[in-house]
Amino acid sequence: MKFPAEPFKIKVVERIQTTTRQIRERLLKEAGFNIFGIPAEFIYVDLLTDSGTSALSDNQWAGLMLGDESYAGSRNFYHLEKTVQDLTGYKYVIPTHQGRVAENLLFSILCSPGKIVPNNTHFDTTRANVKANGARALDLPVAEALDPALEHPFKGNMDVVALGEVLRKERANIPLVACTVTNNSAGGQPVSMENIRAISKLCRRYEVPFFLDSARYAENCYFIRERESGYRNKSVKEIAREMFSYTDGTWMSCKKDGLANIGGFIGLNDEELANRLKQKLILIEGFPHYGGLAGRDLEAVARGLVEAVDEDYLRYRTAQVRYLADSLDRGGVPIVKPAGGHAVFIDASHFAPHIPQSRFPAQALTVAFYREAGIRSVEIGSLMFAEKDPETGKMRYPGLELVRLAIPRRVYTTMHIHYVAESILKIFRKREKIRGLRIVYEAPILRHFTARMEEI
Ligand code: F0G
Repeated sequence: MKFPAEPFKIKVVERIQTTTRQIRERLLKEAGFNIFGIPAEFIYVDLLTDSGTSALSDNQWAGLMLGDESYAGSRNFYHLEKTVQDLTGYKYVIPTHQGRVAENLLFSILCSPGKIVPNNTHFDTTRANVKANGARALDLPVAEALDPALEHPFKGNMDVVALGEVLRKERANIPLVACTVTNNSAGGQPVSMENIRAISKLCRRYEVPFFLDSARYAENCYFIRERESGYRNKSVKEIAREMFSYTDGTWMSCKKDGLANIGGFIGLNDEELANRLKQKLILIEGFPHYGGLAGRDLEAVARGLVEAVDEDYLRYRTAQVRYLADSLDRGGVPIVKPAGGHAVFIDASHFAPHIPQSRFPAQALTVAFYREAGIRSVEIGSLMFAEKDPETGKMRYPGLELVRLAIPRRVYTTMHIHYVAESILKIFRKREKIRGLRIVYEAPILRHFTARMEEI
């Protein structure tokens, strides 16, 4: 087994209950075949998300006890500020309670109708926040990202030729260029330093601010170290400093590589923009020394950010994800290759080719994984992304129909991951029995969270 053992030992355990198939069958019906509607206590291995689901370390728990709940001037804010400055090099640090509030703040100031925000691939809340402010979210992934079976070290990259074109034609309408590291919606794939440098060069030439969506930047930097020439002897922290140095700012959901259950921030160098963000922050989140978080949460984030760049941790982390990917791949399950940093993505169109995109093949797999094995995964396909073309009225389907198995950080053991692999292989062997779905209720935006369906 090519798997480094966990670089930690377990001090506290949380019981998980097993369920019968009958119970799971009932819960699926009650939830309208939407996995978001299943109570977590009835899930055996929860791979819905790696966001906010990390296990805190003893060091973070100790930090929680040192929470200073002062409205202004909390020592935990100063600790967080210094930690972020040290990791990123940005001057200004504005805490928010999670990533999407940072997006909301930034885009409500920078975006307006007619504007365009290019990104390698927008995450769903990022896209929704761009749109909610009247602007257009433009995805510019490299062509390699659209071929799930293709092995390529940096499938998260942005198509810089296309970016150059857009900047040349639309410069006046582009308030910022973003890049998501790692590229969550395109398989958790990393972006190379070379690509970030090239984006930065273009942004500087056209004088457009360049921001990173850095939710999983530590995993991205670890991949740069592993895969990009010239970085083997650099520390992850040094790589991160270099990466941030090419940009003007970042927003981060600290629920991922902050190893925290809640938290986020915006980091940037532009004083005037920082002041505008802080004014708006007071309106929607709170004073700039806590940004919607308790002092103890600020402390957990500050400590988690440092633990997340530890190389023993990152080696184990990426190897655990790769172990799941390799086990599935060996059994013939079609997955996005190579393994991402935080998740394994199953290519549902090839897993269940008998289900057309209009019947949500990826969602159908999430139902099968829960029904058969109590595993919760998430759809990243038509339920999340298909939309009506406003001009033709026809449905536009996404290029990829994926199921994400996102692995919480420091939570599950190798044996849990092994159980997941074995269960999915078993389902794969009888895949022709999986049934498609039809929607019976949907909300106007972000419908995948609350849609109700029935099996066909
Ligand atoms: N950006 C990226 C790349 C994300 O993956 C997420 C969240 C956000 C921004 C928003 O951050 O949740 O703190 O408000 N991703 C989670 C996921 C929800 O499951 O991938 P948030």
